[in-house]
Amino acid sequence: MNVIGINGSPRKKWNTATLVAKALEGAAAQGATTEQFHLYDLDFKGCTSCFACKIRGGESYGKCALNDDLAPVLERIAAADALVIGSPIYFGAVTGETRSFLERLLFPYLTYTVPYGTLFPKKIKTGFIYTMNVTEELSKESGYEQFFKTNERYVQLLLGAAETLCAYDTCQVDDYSKVVIESFDPLHKAKRRSEVLPLECQRAFELGQRLAGAESVAA
Ligand SMILES: Cc1cc2nc3c(=O)[nH]c(=O)nc-3n(C[C@H](O)[C@H](O)[C@H](O)COP(=O)(O)O)c2cc1C
Repeated sequence: MNVIGINGSPRKKWNTATLVAKALEGAAAQGATTEQFHLYDLDFKGCTSCFACKIRGGESYGKCALNDDLAPVLERIAAADALVIGSPIYFGAVTGETRSFLERLLFPYLTYTVPYGTLFPKKIKTGFIYTMNVTEELSKESGYEQFFKTNERYVQLLLGAAETLCAYDTCQVDDYSKVVIESFDPLHKAKRRSEVLPLECQRAFELGQRLAGAESVAA
């Protein structure tokens, strides 16, 4: 059992990376081997729509033909049993790097058949982890849940079962007095970091355990 973690935040020690690492700890506690990749360490592009992955009889059929830093990561995922994809929410969506990663991961497996199908040769479980400034209520009002469901649906079609863990109302910087941020209460945010983040770490740990275990994740 091998579980791959993807950190789609530019920060390697903040909310998203912490939760992805916790999910991998949970998987390791179930006996899985784990690997974590930081997307911002890699030099890569999103899908360039070259269609090499869709050419009939082509040598890259079902596989991304771009040969950059993401290529070996996509190979590791193809050989893995489960995947954790973490991203902060930037302007209501995942970060640009996470988006580019998802395009490259998913498009080569998508068949333009009726109905759509997948060339991924097996089923793996995926856990999405999103961290964001907004509260759970505001996330719902702003339509974020729809975005999360859409990502789950693509992964369910193409890779296998998927579930989502959200960390809301995150603390964004360690010292709010040094930055011009008037819209958030520093004391409230510090409390979120000291009191709520540990609970979210526990939920991420349990997510990792589920991904690496026999228990099923929503298909
Ligand atoms: C460029 C940028 C855009 C952001 N946009 C949103 C947003 O649309 N909604 C939101 O809830 N939080 C937004 N945030 C806040 C981050 O999602 C949040 O602080 C997150 O937990 C950061 O993750 P990290 O600590 O792993 O870097 C934004 C932050 C940045 C830097």
